[in-house]
Amino acid sequence: MAAFATQLIQWQQKNGRHHLPWQGTRDPYAIWLSEIMLQQTQVNTVIPYYDRFMQSFPNIQSLAQAPLDAVLALWSGLGYYSRARNLHQAACMIMQDYQGNFPQTRSLIQQLPGIGRSTAAAIAVFAYGKCEAILDGNVKRVFTRYFGIPGYPGESKIQTLLWRKTEEHLPGSNQKHHIETYTQALMDLGAIICTRRKPICTTCPLQKNCVAFNDNRIEQLPTPKIRKPLPQKEAIFLILLQHQKILLEKRPSTGIWGGLWSLPELEVDENASTYCRQYLGIHVNLPTSLPSLDHQFTHFKLRIHPQFLQVVSQSMIKAPQTTWVKPHDALKYAIPTPVRKLLEKHFLTDNVTLNHPIIDKNNA
Ligand code: ADE
Repeated sequence: MAAFATQLIQWQQKNGRHHLPWQGTRDPYAIWLSEIMLQQTQVNTVIPYYDRFMQSFPNIQSLAQAPLDAVLALWSGLGYYSRARNLHQAACMIMQDYQGNFPQTRSLIQQLPGIGRSTAAAIAVFAYGKCEAILDGNVKRVFTRYFGIPGYPGESKIQTLLWRKTEEHLPGSNQKHHIETYTQALMDLGAIICTRRKPICTTCPLQKNCVAFNDNRIEQLPTPKIRKPLPQKEAIFLILLQHQKILLEKRPSTGIWGGLWSLPELEVDENASTYCRQYLGIHVNLPTSLPSLDHQFTHFKLRIHPQFLQVVSQSMIKAPQTTWVKPHDALKYAIPTPVRKLLEKHFLTDNVTLNHPIIDKNNA
């Protein structure tokens, strides 16, 4: 067992990643932010978001004091927005319950919203040098292969077994001071060598005793989840134009894209003109259908049918939680990725769409 940790530590020192923006600090806030961003997102995507976020909110206090809207705006494009809402809520809790000092044990860290056992452990390791075991998606892959464990790793029985394995394989007492390197090694190995597809077993420090490698089962492990096809939903998104501005509507704080600014959304059998008149107090011309756009969520697929409409007159009704903004300015709001794509496609590309109804000057 000691050999397992030793091999990983030596490999990380020589071949691992040492210059990621959240490395070389003991600041629990910076480490927490990075771990949350990295939960569902790859390192290369995270880096610019992480840098911008740290510039705007360099510490717990500045994050707690910020309006949620500003936090969501910096998250816009990263997806899984509940991460940003939880981050903001946790910052407020740390200010209130811990006088702004980040908690220092894995069990206390784990009680904050949005922080599971593995994330709490990673923070405890990197910020405080605590000897805690992690088990994120990459580590699950490394361990199921190394020990040749069949069964979907998300299943609770398999998960329990994997947690036992990671705890048993933590560095021993003579190597505890290398816990950060060991933990980073597991993350790096999963990201660089023991990848989901085409792992580079030839340079893996664990190859000799890897059960999956020796049994030629690398391709079969980890056992994939049996996937049911995702349900397909459809919706109409309205691009309403008035005086060169479009209408954004703030979504309810719960549900998909909670708290983000989006385009008014209709069921496919709803009539856009009626909706505009009844709910927004707007009279519009006939809609122009634009090419549909697909977006995938964790639990369903959404086919978006955008419709472009120009406002001809507006009554006094002011729909709550709506705002008229220039398309270019809308991109600075916390907007979902497909809305961003739609706006970029129809308003911000030059030449290609010059004859498009949306930016046809005669129409606008
Ligand atoms: N994935 C999760 N946490 C990470 C970290 N600290 N560095 C690189 N990748 C990670």
